[in-house]
Amino acid sequence: MLDAASVLGDRVSAAIESAFGLSGVDPVLRPSQFADTQANAALALAKRIGRNPREAAAAINEHLDLSDVGTVEVSGPGFLNITVSADWIAGQLATLVADERLGVPRQERRTIPVDYSAPNVAKEMHVGHLRTTIVGDSLVRSLEALGHHVIRQNHIGDWGTPFGMLIEHLLEVGEDSPEADLLATDPNAFYQAARAKFDSTDDGGAWATRARERVVKLQAKEPESLEIWRGMIEHSKGYFHRIYSALDVTLTDDDLAGESTYDPMLAGICDELIDRGLAVESEGALCVFPEGFTGREGKPLPLIVRKSDGGYGYATTDLATIKHRARTLGADEILYVVGASQALHFKMIFWAAKAAGWLTRADGSEVTPIHVQIGSVLGEDGKILRTRSGAPLRLSWLLEEAVEKAGTVVAQSRPDLSDDERAVIARQVGIGSVKYADLSVAHDTDYVFDFDRMLALTGNTGPYLQYATARIRSIFRKAGLDPTQARDAVAVLEPTERVLALALLRYGATVAEVGDLQAPHRLAGYLFELAQAFTSFYDACPVLTADEDVRRSRLTLTAATLAVLDHGLGLLGIQAPEQM
Ligand code: ARG
Repeated sequence: MLDAASVLGDRVSAAIESAFGLSGVDPVLRPSQFADTQANAALALAKRIGRNPREAAAAINEHLDLSDVGTVEVSGPGFLNITVSADWIAGQLATLVADERLGVPRQERRTIPVDYSAPNVAKEMHVGHLRTTIVGDSLVRSLEALGHHVIRQNHIGDWGTPFGMLIEHLLEVGEDSPEADLLATDPNAFYQAARAKFDSTDDGGAWATRARERVVKLQAKEPESLEIWRGMIEHSKGYFHRIYSALDVTLTDDDLAGESTYDPMLAGICDELIDRGLAVESEGALCVFPEGFTGREGKPLPLIVRKSDGGYGYATTDLATIKHRARTLGADEILYVVGASQALHFKMIFWAAKAAGWLTRADGSEVTPIHVQIGSVLGEDGKILRTRSGAPLRLSWLLEEAVEKAGTVVAQSRPDLSDDERAVIARQVGIGSVKYADLSVAHDTDYVFDFDRMLALTGNTGPYLQYATARIRSIFRKAGLDPTQARDAVAVLEPTERVLALALLRYGATVAEVGDLQAPHRLAGYLFELAQAFTSFYDACPVLTADEDVRRSRLTLTAATLAVLDHGLGLLGIQAPEQM
């Protein structure tokens, strides 16, 4: 463990144990104005041990051995002010530089299915899907880096009543027609065309009737219907993957586990719920009434698992996802990275799954389901982002726009580069800015989508961080050195070097937090701080023009910053341009 805070915290806890015989006491580490950190445990403990805080602090200090790390001083009402030594920092940095994991811990391996992205077939992906896709992808990258067995689950909407009309329409236009291609290029247009036929009364509703019959055939697995349906999914996959590749998202066809895959489980799910006395008939439908969930006038809220017409819905399918993931995939933890508006749905699903016993393993231990709630992306008017005409925004348009705007920025900053070179950078910056805007705010917080703000080269933006890496690369180009080879000993002399070095040592603990708390924004915030610490260092400390020893030390510090920025941006799914 390289992070100064965790080393110090462990030492303080150990000292408390030998001083008072109390184990596992929180050291209460806080940032300090006068030292690197302060431990406030004495204040919290004083009452418990019947001494005044200053005495308690002195007693802890007597048992606190920090000789290899730094110095400690009792101050104020009972703070322990701890300052780490330059030698300790240098030693830890040497470990960091030699470690290809850059201090990222290897956690005890857990199996974690992560449900994310989950767009709907024959519908345009909207900004809501954009966010679950980006946040989910960054979570899976981080969890994998921490050593977990991650199973990506793209729960696409590929089943249900609209498919009758969609299949009927595809059958009419022909699978090889330009209209069918719309599924891959402009799914909403395909959907609208099918819808228009469905709604039309010109034929006395004959078409709509055929569409309804088609759903029944599809659900009965009639071969022709199934085949056309499969063709439609194929077209749609093309669309999803175009978006995923534009976004540099790690989802592939192998990760598809759409609603339809659970169809064979649904009848059994209902039977099991009935057998356990959890599901009851209510107004013709089969319902579970999760405890403690009430609607208007305190009426118990139903989770409908089988509709009165015998069909199954979104809830039944999600009960199947949770059982499948817990039982068949052997999950320790299951993440659902889905819009916050579905919070009630997941609470009820989790309750029912637990009550049904699907979350309890043979040894009695529990599988933990977590809804990673995704906040909304808003327009400048504070409402869900839409086009001016009120239609949902096309994701593909939005990404193209971001790349184009980034192109304008790059054209201004790098007129010396070729068009091709600039195009590569514009793509990385445009996509990176969109992704970073999503990742830099807590996943459950709404944010306002603003191209100008997210493309800015200053402030907490993707381009700012990308620029920081490009700038460091140019330092090494100028010096004619390879940053991956800069591994000399670091001497921490100046205050800005110290701040930068301590920030670098916090990287591993930050990545662990991302995984433990499902919080990519912690990593984003950390990288922003690191880039700022680098800027302050570089402003205050000459690197290339310093004396040989200092120059080597500073180049190592600079290279370590690049390595961490690069790695961290990688976990966010953001590419860093070679130059900018
Ligand atoms: N397709 C759904 C939607 O667009 C999201 C599915 C999320 N995952 C799940 N297991 N329910 O809202």
